[in-house]
Amino acid sequence: MSPESATSQPSQSQPGQALPLLEVDSLTVDIDGEVGKHRILDDVSITLEPGEPMGLVGESGSGKSMTLRTILGMLPPAATVVEGEVRFRGRNILTSGSGRGYDQKVRGTGISMVFQEPAIALNPVMKVGRQITDAIAEHKGLSKRASHDLAIELMDRVGIANPERRVSDYPFQLSGGMRQRVMIAAALAQEPEILLCDEPTTALDVTIQAQVLDLFRTMQQEKGLGLLYVTHDLAVVAQLCTSISVMKSGKIIEHGNLQRIFDEPQEDYTRKLLSATPRIDDGVQLERAT
Ligand SMILES: Nc1ncnc2c1ncn2[C@@H]1O[C@H](COP(=O)(O)OP(=O)(O)O)[C@@H](O)[C@H]1O
Ligand SMILES: [Mg+2]
Repeated sequence: MSPESATSQPSQSQPGQALPLLEVDSLTVDIDGEVGKHRILDDVSITLEPGEPMGLVGESGSGKSMTLRTILGMLPPAATVVEGEVRFRGRNILTSGSGRGYDQKVRGTGISMVFQEPAIALNPVMKVGRQITDAIAEHKGLSKRASHDLAIELMDRVGIANPERRVSDYPFQLSGGMRQRVMIAAALAQEPEILLCDEPTTALDVTIQAQVLDLFRTMQQEKGLGLLYVTHDLAVVAQLCTSISVMKSGKIIEHGNLQRIFDEPQEDYTRKLLSATPRIDDGVQLERAT
């Protein structure tokens, strides 16, 4: 824990209890859309323990991306947090930044995110290697040479062929799948405590997807990475996560450990999501519906 977080607001946890890594507590968010103001997150609570990999699942439009974006302090301007807190190691990061806004310092080594659409997150006029390198250099104070080498190593680990050459490409020179892998490399380079993933492997073919999931699993186990992993693919959750939260219409309607949710789902909605998924022990790769 950083000295800063040790002196800031206490959490609601009991004395002597280890603090959860992340607590989304009764989060309610409204958005001013074309059809007027409406609620997109309604009393959402999620607790992530250090090193826990959790899957966040639910149909399109249920609020998964907005939940991650609130945690990262990147809601669209039309959205307002009406109620609730997001605590990182006990500190409400929605209000502990300068000017009582989001604490930007938590982004990077604290919380990092792999977005669904890499085009949003990559700079089109910067070489991809440098985009990974910048993330490393900023947080680790590495020399130019050392961070360059690490960028190549990370590109190799996410399955980019010829990383020595690719490191000097611009995003437009790479396929969508490769750009997504660059994003993942940049997020992992920061060695965050929490990695938020928004359907990070949707654009990848099955072989690369397996490779990237392997990498997430290794990072998660070796570094004790807390993972909040959004996907519509429950087979991916089964491979990667130990717990699941199910979202519907801006609410968490069910939460539990992986086996319990797969064996005894309490909600019809969860049952329907599962019915499109082979059993965990089948080891079958799902064909995607979308
Ligand atoms: N920029 C926006 N303006 C207005 N409404 C939005 C905007 N982005 C998302 N929404 C609405 O917020 C809700 C949750 O969206 P989202 O979190 O993206 O869902 P999911 O990721 O689960 O598919 C949806 O009803 C969506 O229509
Ligand atoms: Mg989404």
